[in-house]
Amino acid sequence: MDLEKIEPNVINLCHEVADFIRHESLHFDRSRIEQKDTFSNLVSYVDKESERKLVTGLKKIIPRSGVLAEEGTDSKSENEYKWIIDPLDGTTNFLHGVPIFAISVALQRGERTVLGVVYEVTHHECFHAIEGGGAFCNSNEIRVSAISSLGQSLLATGFPYYHTEKKDQYLDIIKTFLEKTHGIRRLGSAAIDLAYVACGRLEGFFEYDLKPWDVAGGAFILQQAGGTVTDFSGQNNFLYGGELCAAGNVHPEMLSVIQEKWFR
Ligand code: IPD
Ligand code: CA
Ligand code: CA
Repeated sequence: MDLEKIEPNVINLCHEVADFIRHESLHFDRSRIEQKDTFSNLVSYVDKESERKLVTGLKKIIPRSGVLAEEGTDSKSENEYKWIIDPLDGTTNFLHGVPIFAISVALQRGERTVLGVVYEVTHHECFHAIEGGGAFCNSNEIRVSAISSLGQSLLATGFPYYHTEKKDQYLDIIKTFLEKTHGIRRLGSAAIDLAYVACGRLEGFFEYDLKPWDVAGGAFILQQAGGTVTDFSGQNNFLYGGELCAAGNVHPEMLSVIQEKWFR
């Protein structure tokens, strides 16, 4: 598979779907919000229609490829390629008119991610990478921040929908970072958090209870931009393991704070 050839097609498709999401955001009616399994896990026809458009388009780009997507598409691959898709990351923001949301697409060959696109809808910022090809925001190459101390860092996190039994440990981590850094942001889109670490706007991002579609695209872009992504044990199981610590040079310092509080 020539990744250089298919990357522009994936970007064009995300661009088209982002136009659809942006258009819907202008006149979205809140009575069309649907609840999933908890009162804070929301969805709408915009998520579902974006997923339909992405799945149709991506399957044209690589016929017989598999798909794992947030709104239910789970089709087996008839070859070695599989897409992992979040058709609208930042759904709660979208539904409330907060303009921070993105499309996230990753392509895996076997178990290995080889392409990632995070398309931030409002500012038309397309973060993208292919294996070994560096990482980009639109046509500009990006790198993680050169900052190497937590004391000069701006971090991001998110607040999980489930597994709140871990909330005390999590709040302890947040408390420590509040005391040690320039601050913590909660943007409401894990894909954008990861993309912002990739381009050096943020030094690090951590969250638990994330799903593969939240992180697959952004984590890959961040790695291609020189960053490190692990689970809270410092291992590689961040895609399906639900714990993620992602950063540039401050990764070791961040991880040691997280481990001290999380595994106490
Ligand atoms: C959510 C966002 C949010 C994170 C949640 C995710 P969604 O995805 O990425 O930042 O905190 O855990 O589920 O529901 O907006 O696609
Ligand atoms: Ca998501
Ligand atoms: Ca979503």
